[in-house]
Amino acid sequence: MRALNLLGLSTVLVLAQYAAAQTWYFLTFFTPPGSYITSYSGSFVAPTLPQAATYYLWPGLQPSDNAGVLQPVLDGRSGTWWIGSGWCCSNPSLPWGSGFNVANGQTVRFSLKVNSISGGTWATNLTSSAGGAATGSFPLPTHPMNQAIIAIELYNVAWNFGQFAFSNVVIVANTTSTSWCTNGPTNYQKAAVVSMSTPTATVSGGQTTCSIASVILVRPA
Ligand SMILES: *[C@@H]1O[C@H](CO)[C@@H](O)[C@H](O)[C@H]1NC(C)=O
Ligand SMILES: *[C@@H]1O[C@H](CO)[C@@H](O)[C@H](O)[C@H]1NC(C)=O
Repeated sequence: MRALNLLGLSTVLVLAQYAAAQTWYFLTFFTPPGSYITSYSGSFVAPTLPQAATYYLWPGLQPSDNAGVLQPVLDGRSGTWWIGSGWCCSNPSLPWGSGFNVANGQTVRFSLKVNSISGGTWATNLTSSAGGAATGSFPLPTHPMNQAIIAIELYNVAWNFGQFAFSNVVIVANTTSTSWCTNGPTNYQKAAVVSMSTPTATVSGGQTTCSIASVILVRPA
């Protein structure tokens, strides 16, 4: 249920030299410098889990200092998907939120919301189409978030479960700039084939709401 944080791309690249069995596929929306995310929500479908193995599939938020990742992680280690939210992995050290099992093909809705960017307690809310529900509270006042991520993180196993599909993804940030949304996310090392609807941005009250109807990590590139 824990996933390594990304710690910036350089660290990932260094780690890759020593841990070749770890594989990353991820998309990142970066907000402009000095602006931060206040809310990140959406739904995704749990793929069919091929076997018990360290499959970590997640949406998450990362702060500009890359101190960790706030992430609801769909975890395949037991052979049945389990999801719970956590702040990985330290600074501060916080307990993980509760979670629930997710059957293959179920839809999970996630919502991560902060009460104030500078005050910084994140409320997490997970629900599934089968009635699973879990909430969490993560005080992270010194870590305003500037990266909204969708990730497939694998250890000693291949991306062999088919697509990882999100719908109704919404990211809210305190900026009137919209290009961070409409230009779309970065695709780490272009490692994944991505199918995505065009992101739309609406500006109101000094905030931009970025909506993406569908974003799918289809398969390895
Ligand atoms: C976003 O909020 C933070 C924290 O309140 C503030 O420091 C920053 O200036 C805001 N950015 C914009 C672009 O409004
Ligand atoms: C969690 O999300 C569900 C589905 O969107 C909603 O019905 C419920 O009220 C939320 N719970 C909390 C504590 O916000």
